Amino acid sequence: MNDQLLQLFEEAEGVFLSGEELSSRLNISRTAIWKQIERLREQGYLFEAVPRKGYRLISKPDKLELTELISKLTTRSLGRTIKYFESLDSTQNVAHQLVNEGAAEGTLVLAERQTAGRGRMGRKWHSPKGKGIWFSLVLRPSIPLQFTPQLTLLVAVALCRAIRSETELPVGIKWPNDLLINGKKICGILLESSAEDERLKHVIAGVGISANLFPDDFPEELRGVATSLSIEAGKPIDRVQLLCRFLSELEQLYDLYLAEGFTPIKLLWEALNVSLHRPLRSMTPQGLIEGYAESMDDSGALVVRLDDGNVTKIYSGDVEFR
Ligand code: BTN
Repeated sequence: MNDQLLQLFEEAEGVFLSGEELSSRLNISRTAIWKQIERLREQGYLFEAVPRKGYRLISKPDKLELTELISKLTTRSLGRTIKYFESLDSTQNVAHQLVNEGAAEGTLVLAERQTAGRGRMGRKWHSPKGKGIWFSLVLRPSIPLQFTPQLTLLVAVALCRAIRSETELPVGIKWPNDLLINGKKICGILLESSAEDERLKHVIAGVGISANLFPDDFPEELRGVATSLSIEAGKPIDRVQLLCRFLSELEQLYDLYLAEGFTPIKLLWEALNVSLHRPLRSMTPQGLIEGYAESMDDSGALVVRLDDGNVTKIYSGDVEFR
């Protein structure tokens, strides 16, 4: 019944509807209408009530509305199965379970809030309720194991293109998997995979986009290094729209990658990256590397000219600009 009432308010597009009209259209008493409006208010819907005019819907709670998401999806397979949670520990954990139960490629696990969101290198990922786009996506590409890092770069390119086209913000990719705006992080990617006989079995691409966090939503230690799309854009971000755009960008690039390999993706990455041609340092299993990022090779590794003139490659880990 709540759904029918909401539909009437949405169709009215902010115009007042009287209690009498609502009660006759839904065939329930005016008291029942009032009770339903109260219930919707408790869920975060904002109504204005004016004597003799009735009620009008002012705003909806910022929730990742599944019906809206599904109706806006233009993809063939990515996001065609969605598991949505108000709150869970980590979307990665649920995606791992689903994969073990045979989840199809494109399965999307989405949460409003994570209580134990995971970042790379054992770090925590801050995932407050309703503020970000926290999700994990199941992919099952048939590629040799050593190509797995390319998928991180592929996801980064799709995210960057989606954010640029939805917000026009100057977002860039920091190798291997951070998205930055003006040097501050707005998005991270955590790729977890499983292999068999040197071939990749599946990948779970975990993505955290800090969409609508206010400065106060970040813990103290992140304030200087992280930001959100809404802070940078100066207005709220439509999370459903951005997620749909990302899935569609990713699907197109993923198809291209499976058909033509990494070369076209590498070109796109090069155009969007903010890591190359800069002095940087990185702590690798072999020790501290300090040098100048010259290029990215065909496997996705970063080619670094060391301060002593020698050239080395970094295959994973964090880099820091000097
Ligand atoms: C990083 O930059 O360290 C990667 C962050 C990845 C965070 C996302 S949020 C959704 C998914 N679930 C998790 O627990 N982590 C990833």
